[in-house]
Amino acid sequence: MQSLAIVGSQWGDEGKGKITDLLGQKCDVVVRYQGGNNAGHTIIVGDKKIVLHLIPSGILHDHCTSVVGHGVVFDPEAFQVELEDVRNSGVEVTPDKLKISENCAVITSYNKLLDGLRENQGPVKIGTTGKGIGPAYEDKVSRKGLKLKDLLDKDLLIQKLRNNLQEKEILFKHLYGSDFPTVEEEAEHLFKLGKNVAPYLTDTFSFLDHALRENKKVLYEGAQGVLLDIDYGSYPFVTSSSTGAGGIYTGAGLPGQSIQEVLGITKAYTTRVGEGPFPTELFDELGEKIQTIGGEFGATTGRKRRCGWLDLPLLKYTVKASNMTSIALTKLDVLCHVDTLKICTGYKYKGQTIDCAYPGIDLSQVEPIYVEMECFKDTFETDNLSDTLKTYIETIEKFIGIPVGILAYGPERSEIKFKKEYFN
Ligand code: IMP
Repeated sequence: MQSLAIVGSQWGDEGKGKITDLLGQKCDVVVRYQGGNNAGHTIIVGDKKIVLHLIPSGILHDHCTSVVGHGVVFDPEAFQVELEDVRNSGVEVTPDKLKISENCAVITSYNKLLDGLRENQGPVKIGTTGKGIGPAYEDKVSRKGLKLKDLLDKDLLIQKLRNNLQEKEILFKHLYGSDFPTVEEEAEHLFKLGKNVAPYLTDTFSFLDHALRENKKVLYEGAQGVLLDIDYGSYPFVTSSSTGAGGIYTGAGLPGQSIQEVLGITKAYTTRVGEGPFPTELFDELGEKIQTIGGEFGATTGRKRRCGWLDLPLLKYTVKASNMTSIALTKLDVLCHVDTLKICTGYKYKGQTIDCAYPGIDLSQVEPIYVEMECFKDTFETDNLSDTLKTYIETIEKFIGIPVGILAYGPERSEIKFKKEYFN
């Protein structure tokens, strides 16, 4: 296997960072293709906790090249902070190890300001991470955005920012009544930050083309999850990028190849941060217990994650939407602490019973159908799994039609079992 994609099969926070980190040991290149520093991958190495937002997880392996593809929206200010943090953890970051597409769209101060103002004053609250992600993608799609390469030429930067600010200025002044930086201030700010990014800027498309031609092993690292995808997700409560495997083709490129394996990272229960419908959400003490035991707090914003049972109609849908070929089931250890265990196997929706969600389904109107499962209390000290855990896994596999290739039961690199080989 030469190319593998890791995507989140739920609403993000499924534990992708840990699996990417482990499989990163076996590959040559790790690529981010969408999203920005709204992501937060927590990786525990020994007694160190490293949180990556923008830099691909491959950075932790010296033999690996990390690539930030052009589909990523890039905040040069956040990058500077993250670069320093990563270096302070003892990880070496050099232009050989990290390559950033010169065509990434830039997240400006205007984008961050607008994100915050909309969340505070707008009629619909999405519960965004406040990192300017949506407004930056809007700029890109409306063809008013800045690319990272623009940060290297101050005159061009001023010209582009003038065009960029023209409509936003009216919003800041008249809709939100907010102060905002002048074009000259923002240009100065971004020009300075651009100098830090410059050594890493690369034509990453051609870099990947060469890597794949040389039979390098490439891992595409998705951020968020398919249910937050701009097209496949629970719109409008989504992020603004293509979080599934489809985003790889537009956000990084896979010249001359198609993806051989799409690994969907799946939490053994479900969590969600931010607003939006969540059919299997638990509003009781059990939900709180799972939240506490699972340490379900956002790695980027620190917000509490909402918790609920595993939702198979949603999982079946995201498996199809992203052509997943296997899944990793994470945080199994958390479910070992509960004395009631349910799994959602269908919805009652508009007078019918369905077992698979689809784009545009109104999740606030579905009534989940549950099957009560026997609890499992595995300690994972040996390779043997209890019969009850085996039944839980087999129920999932049968329902979604693809195998569970990985089991994860703790934050350490060692707390993971491979049932299937990847990159061999
Ligand atoms: P945005 O990406 O900041 O615009 O936020 C849009 C929605 O996606 C909100 O519900 C966020 O909570 C959610 N979101 C964005 N990034 C992540 C993530 O990495 N994990 C989980 N949820 C996320």
